Amino acid sequence: MNPLIELTDVAKTFGQGADAVHAFGPVDLTIDDGDFISFLGPSGCGKSTLMLMVAGLLERTSGQIVLGGQPVDGPRTDIGIMFQDNTLVPWRTVRGNIELQLEMRGIDPTSAADRITVLLQSVHLQDFADRFPYELSGGMQQRAAFCQAMVHDPQIMLLDEPLGKLDAMTREQIRTDLQTLWMQQKPTVIFVTHSIEEAVQLSSRVAIITPRPGRVEKIIPIDLPFPRDFEVKNSPEFASYVRDIQEIFRGYGVI
Ligand SMILES: Nc1ncnc2c1ncn2[C@@H]1O[C@H](COP(=O)(O)OP(=O)(O)O)[C@@H](O)[C@H]1O
Ligand SMILES: [Mg+2]
Repeated sequence: MNPLIELTDVAKTFGQGADAVHAFGPVDLTIDDGDFISFLGPSGCGKSTLMLMVAGLLERTSGQIVLGGQPVDGPRTDIGIMFQDNTLVPWRTVRGNIELQLEMRGIDPTSAADRITVLLQSVHLQDFADRFPYELSGGMQQRAAFCQAMVHDPQIMLLDEPLGKLDAMTREQIRTDLQTLWMQQKPTVIFVTHSIEEAVQLSSRVAIITPRPGRVEKIIPIDLPFPRDFEVKNSPEFASYVRDIQEIFRGYGVI
C-alpha cells in the first residue's frame, strides 16, 4: 500500500494570547491508498478543524499535510467533501445538483451521465433523479450528497459526520449505502464520527482522538470482512472492538 495522505506535526491553535484555544494536535499520521479511516473522538476535540486543514480550507498553525505527493497550501478541488449539512441547491433536481459539481470544475456533465446513473443506483436513488431536494427525506438528501461528493471521481473523500442529523434507523441504512459506494468506487476516506459502532462498522482503521487538544491516541485496525452486514455486526468480534473502544473513552471520562 502507498501512503496517500501524510500528516506531519499538524496542529491548530485558534486566536492568540490569553484567548488562544489549542484545538488540535500535534499529530503525525499516514493514511494508505484505499483506506477507510475513521476519526473517532468527543465533541470539540478538533475533528472538523482537522478536516478543514486537510481540505486546505483552514490554515495550520504548524506542520505539513501532503495529499498524493502534493503539499496542501490552499483549497483543493480534486477531493470530495461532505459535512453534516448538505449543500444541495433547492432549484436543481438531484441529477442537476450532481451535475453542478462537474460544471463548477469545468467538466461537461453529459460526459458523466452514465456515471451519475451508477452512483444513484448504488444508493437506491435512481427513481428520484428528477426530483427536487424538498421532495426527498433527510436520508435521501444525504444519499444525493454522497453522489455529489463522488461524481468527479475523487481519490480522497472527507466526510465530516455526514449522518449526524439523521434518525437511528436511517443512519443504519445509509451506512450500508456508504459502504457499498466505498467498495465500488474505492476512494480513500477520512470519516469523522462520534459513534463507536459506526466507526467499527465502516472502517478499515479507527483513529482514537483524545479530548481537546485532539491527538491520535491509538490506531485500531478493524480486522473484519467487508461488506459488514447484519451477521458481521452481530458477531462477538464486532462487539469486542466496540467494547475495547468504549473502555478507552471511559478512561477519558467522556462516556
Ligand atoms: N473558528 C474558530 N475560532 C475559534 N475556536 C474555534 C474555531 N473553530 C473551532 N474552534 C474550537 O476548536 C475546538 C475544536 O473544534 P472542532 O474542530 O469543531 O471540534 P469537533 O469537530 O471535534 O467537534 C473547539 O474547542 C472549538 O470551540
Ligand atoms: Mg465537528
